[in-house]
Amino acid sequence: MRQMRNIVILISGRGSNMQAIVEAAKQERWPARIAAVISNRADAKGLAYAAQHGIPVLTVASADYPSRALFDAALQEAVDVFQPDLLVLAGFMRILTPGFVAHYAGRLLNIHPSLLPSFPGLATHEQALAAGVKLHGATVHFVTAELDHGPIVAQAAVAVHADDTPDTLAERILVQEHQMYPRAVRWFIEGHLKLVNNLVQIAPAAHSSSMTTSN
Ligand code: GRF
Repeated sequence: MRQMRNIVILISGRGSNMQAIVEAAKQERWPARIAAVISNRADAKGLAYAAQHGIPVLTVASADYPSRALFDAALQEAVDVFQPDLLVLAGFMRILTPGFVAHYAGRLLNIHPSLLPSFPGLATHEQALAAGVKLHGATVHFVTAELDHGPIVAQAAVAVHADDTPDTLAERILVQEHQMYPRAVRWFIEGHLKLVNNLVQIAPAAHSSSMTTSN
């Protein structure tokens, strides 16, 4: 029997990427369990979905902590109860301290709504439209201490249309995110990802592209 891996997912809001990962894990019978979904906000919409699916949910409210370091220490304690093999950031709207990131080095993934290294930070769709790029998208990457700069696991690109707004772009990219993120998490769980010289190598056994484009 394959060993079951533990995945912990951190969210701050809607949780649609979390939902896509939960569904894929179940449908594709991954050798993994979603051990917990943890939010830094009690009102995160995604918590209800996770709870309805029998996943342990909890909130470590960032607003209750006077400093980033104290919040991250509390969060780390809460996460480690579930002994994660992988910690997944899915719309988790917090900048993490270097100590927290180091603790999960090599087992911490994020999805960012741009084709990194273009447009790190917030308001990525506005940034893309302002720059006039013709392709925009999303990136799954390992998290390092530098915000939105870790080794890239997968990218999905969409064409930017002349009449796009930040909302229409976000909507089209989200469809891609929901396909790409579960696939990348699965690669990790099945041991297909390797970090070599700070670059991600994907085992040929994964049989799937780390890059997708769509109109
Ligand atoms: C996604 O666009 C993701 O790329 C970004 O935040 C958004 C989260 O959406 N990091 P959801 O909470 O997964 O629905």
